[in-house]
Amino acid sequence: MTIWYGGDYNPEQWPRAIWDDDMRLMNRAGISLATVGVFSWARLEPRPGEYDFGWLDELLDLLHANGVRVDLATATASPPPWLAREHPETLPVTEDGVRLSVGSRQQYCPSSPVYRDRARELVRRVVDRYADHPAIELWHVNNEYGCHVSHCYCDVSAEAFRGWLRAKYGQIDELNRVWGTAFWSQRYDSFDEVSPPRAAPTFRNPTQLLDFDRFSNDELLACYRAEVEVIRARSPIPITTNFMGFFKAVDYWAWAREVDIVSDDTYPDPADPESPAYAAMVRDLMRSLGGGAPWLLMEQAPSAVNWRRRNAVKSPGQMRAWSYQSVARGADGILFFQWRQSVAGSEKFHSGLVPHSGTDTRLWREVEQLGQELAALSARTGDAAITGTRVPSTVAITLDWDSWWAIEQPASPADVSYVRTLFAWHRALTSLGLAVDFVRSDADLSGYRLVVAPAHFAASDAQVANLASFAETGTLVVGFGTAITDENLHVRLGGYLGEPLRSALGVWIEEFAPPAAPDLQNLGIGTPPPLALAGEAFGGAATGTVWAEFLRVEDAEILATFTEGALGGWPVVTRRATGAGAGWYVATLPEPDALRRLAERVALEAGIDLPAPAATGEQVETVRRGGSLFVINHGEEDAELVVEGTDALTGAPAAGMRLAPQGVAIIYPTSGTSG
Ligand code: GLA
Repeated sequence: MTIWYGGDYNPEQWPRAIWDDDMRLMNRAGISLATVGVFSWARLEPRPGEYDFGWLDELLDLLHANGVRVDLATATASPPPWLAREHPETLPVTEDGVRLSVGSRQQYCPSSPVYRDRARELVRRVVDRYADHPAIELWHVNNEYGCHVSHCYCDVSAEAFRGWLRAKYGQIDELNRVWGTAFWSQRYDSFDEVSPPRAAPTFRNPTQLLDFDRFSNDELLACYRAEVEVIRARSPIPITTNFMGFFKAVDYWAWAREVDIVSDDTYPDPADPESPAYAAMVRDLMRSLGGGAPWLLMEQAPSAVNWRRRNAVKSPGQMRAWSYQSVARGADGILFFQWRQSVAGSEKFHSGLVPHSGTDTRLWREVEQLGQELAALSARTGDAAITGTRVPSTVAITLDWDSWWAIEQPASPADVSYVRTLFAWHRALTSLGLAVDFVRSDADLSGYRLVVAPAHFAASDAQVANLASFAETGTLVVGFGTAITDENLHVRLGGYLGEPLRSALGVWIEEFAPPAAPDLQNLGIGTPPPLALAGEAFGGAATGTVWAEFLRVEDAEILATFTEGALGGWPVVTRRATGAGAGWYVATLPEPDALRRLAERVALEAGIDLPAPAATGEQVETVRRGGSLFVINHGEEDAELVVEGTDALTGAPAAGMRLAPQGVAIIYPTSGTSG
């Protein structure tokens, strides 16, 4: 099986003569999959109802003749200007009432019936024409749903939101109850009075905000479904739409069920030393969304992007190292944005596989080398096979979009970043060499030994019960900010943490006490001081950040306490062990070293074997996929491998091998077979 190699290909930006050169270079680089037509609507339908497919016919034939498979886009991501001229109401409106204009991209209201109709008609024509074309490998629906416009506040959206609310609540009194409109005179007398949460004098109704987040996700998903329906009626070819890592506006759990293969666009910042660790988390999410199945890295930058204020290049070898990180964590394809760097338009300074300066460049040489390597790896069989294999894991972190939306709302005890909180836990666990999945909190958790539930703020009774029952047989770690409210954002009274979680952990929360900085003018400036902690959970002294609380213990051991100030002497880490399981509670976010020590302690008590390091060096990432151990050196010093086996990339024995910065080894047992 092939590890796909390729990227977005936008030849409509180039004269026809260049296309032949593209084919020659694609073959040289081993390109096997090209994403075509993502932004081609204006070219395919230059005037309403007038279609021009001639150029795409020729292009697909050319790619096919050159052995390049095609991920064909439905081209609906960016409507042509004529749609806005004919139907200005299709343009999206921001919460401040600003109607967005044409001249950029993705300027459509997701609830617009006109947009959906025109998009569906285009898809019907594309699919009718190309469903039987031999080059098509995959359908690429739209592009990065919600990337620029995820919430639309226009009148069409408002009407759709009312319809959504009617379907959900039936009666306006039920909406009033769930939204808590007795507060601040917000009571509605009919659904007609309800609007999207547009700009308002001060804090908007929290449950209205949350429902609008849910509604907005549903509307985008409805756009996706409308296209999928057209494709499925005509073609059995698999369908994807490209995700964007931890993207707040779109609940990928709901979407992942509806794609045939998960695909992702990730652009880690080469200037940020945390990027490899963060990207590792993103890749683990993609694998988890598909239930462990292989996924596709649909887009990454060959080198610099153009959309940060300052755009760092990838250092030599970094593109290769980060590509292998994706393969290690479950990807069966490495694709880029984009094939040939644009000559005009606002992405002309975004790197491409074929750079402005041509092929006598370090970037192109790296592109060719990686393509050749991936082709050789794809051919391997037996213990050294990679494609189609899985990344086994006994550890999971819960992730739920409702809680993400809820915990980051204003008017909360402290500004908590949901993803930063998950990242802290993920990093601590992966730094121990553990493979980590993400799971929904209401999923079947029985395949895991250790489940961490951090900041699971808006927990339904079913989710609380699911977590609590896991603690009877597995090790559950609940982090601060969990089960503060139910799914309607109604606070759980009588001590936060609902039953039966409270009994499973043997603790309840009396009062929040997040660290705060002096903030006379409410400007949100200044960094809160760290909280002093100590106890056996950390093997001594430690510090905490972000959050703290007065934690009451009913039936648990106290393994660490706060040591200073008003919280001095109050518990911060507790454990309640039952027969086979255990429930831990952590009332702050320990700083990285302390969290790592805590994670190690928890993992060992959960009976998880911590793998011995595969190499020397601080920033060496190791991941086991299938029968192979991937070792990637993200550090600035050489690392030395200390495991036995054979490196699939060089054929050399692993033990004693030196990995330069950005170096990669893929080790399989020497006794294994390789094709
Ligand atoms: C996204 C889009 C691409 C391109 C890249 C640039 O991922 O899907 O069309 O704009 O960003 O980084």
